[in-house]
Amino acid sequence: MSGFERQILITGGAGFIGSHVVKLFVNQYPTYKIINLDLLTYAGNLENLKSIENASNYEFVKGDIVDGDFIQSLFQKFDFDGVIHLAAESHVDRSITDPLAFLQTNILGTVNLLNAAKESWKSESGKLFYHISTDEVYGSLQKTGFFTEQTAYDPQSPYSASKASSDHFVRAYGNTYGLNYIISNCSNNYGPYQFPEKLIPLMINNVIGGKRLPVYGKGENIRDWLYVEDHARAIDTIYHRGHSGETYNIGGFNEWKNIDLVHMLCEIMDKKLQLKDTSKNLIEFVKDRAGHDLRYAIDATKLEKELGWRPSLQFEEGLEKTVDWYLENTQWLDHVTSGVYQTYYQEHYAV
Ligand code: NAD
Ligand code: DAU
Repeated sequence: MSGFERQILITGGAGFIGSHVVKLFVNQYPTYKIINLDLLTYAGNLENLKSIENASNYEFVKGDIVDGDFIQSLFQKFDFDGVIHLAAESHVDRSITDPLAFLQTNILGTVNLLNAAKESWKSESGKLFYHISTDEVYGSLQKTGFFTEQTAYDPQSPYSASKASSDHFVRAYGNTYGLNYIISNCSNNYGPYQFPEKLIPLMINNVIGGKRLPVYGKGENIRDWLYVEDHARAIDTIYHRGHSGETYNIGGFNEWKNIDLVHMLCEIMDKKLQLKDTSKNLIEFVKDRAGHDLRYAIDATKLEKELGWRPSLQFEEGLEKTVDWYLENTQWLDHVTSGVYQTYYQEHYAV
């Protein structure tokens, strides 16, 4: 007996979204024990978890979800009541240069976790495998329409193909072995602790360093942005009140064309840094991402109507908070960019 009401395994808890989810669960549920399993790849960083690292209901385990034997032994060591699975390779550009890494982690890693859950949970009810996925599994929208939970899968990048495959495996384990599961598919997240290879922190980091701001193609692609703490809150809601076998779409009701977003970000940075020359002068239109999806837009009505979740922050407010965080945490930026850090842009274009 652990002495805790529940033991929950959160994978990828040292990454961007995972660290917000771990902090929310550790702080909000002192009667739960939270076990954070993370390999600490370039994207995982224990500095993201400083505020809770000594909490009595928290334990960190370093390990690889691709190692099936290790995952089996972890499920023997702990009697998990639930899994919230976020560990993944998450960057689309990296999936274009190294698809196999995405197959390994996102597909094989997920199946290893499903196997361990199936074997150690048997038919015990009340145990839940909650898989965190992406709206990119639905492919690309044209100018109109929204992704709903009924939209057919049509992944276009190696990243989204690997996430779509992992979603299919989760549903297959529900159908074939009776595993209780939930899947949520979320739109683009932004906020503190996001690795600066993704659009918003990359632009912030480059403005701070006076470097060029690479906008792919003509900057006309559209994304639906959600503040990361709102996603973490949605995950909490779905984990506790969602129904087994269901899918929930999570989105910000907040579509932005990339170039308009970058302009707004530059205006915020100009003001905060009191720049004489606008940082918009740093914008450079570069070669487009291969197979670049035009538009994502989530219809999150089901989550709103059935479970009462809505995003809490306006985009401008969220972006200001995000910029403030990066400006106050330049040491974090320096640290995470000092090792293997290389952006797709740096790899493919002279800087
Ligand atoms: P991230 O890249 O910031 O973090 C991923 C974490 O997984 C890192 O801590 C990394 O160390 C860990 N990890 C990677 N490989 C591992 C392995 N083999 N074993 C154990 N741990 C490993 O990712 P993120 O942006 O926080 O995304 C988290 C999840 O949410 C992913 O599954 C992603 O597909 C999904 N998602 C992300 C977004 C987004 O906008 N970032 C939107 C929707 C869904
Ligand atoms: O939609 C959810 C997905 O959002 C998640 O599943 C992924 O894990 C996450 O990385 C994100 O994928 P995107 O490819 O949409 O995010 P990214 O930040 O890489 O790019 C956002 C948009 O900005 C996209 O249209 C490409 C463009 N872009 C990106 C970078 C890094 C640029 O124009 N320049 C850049 O330097």
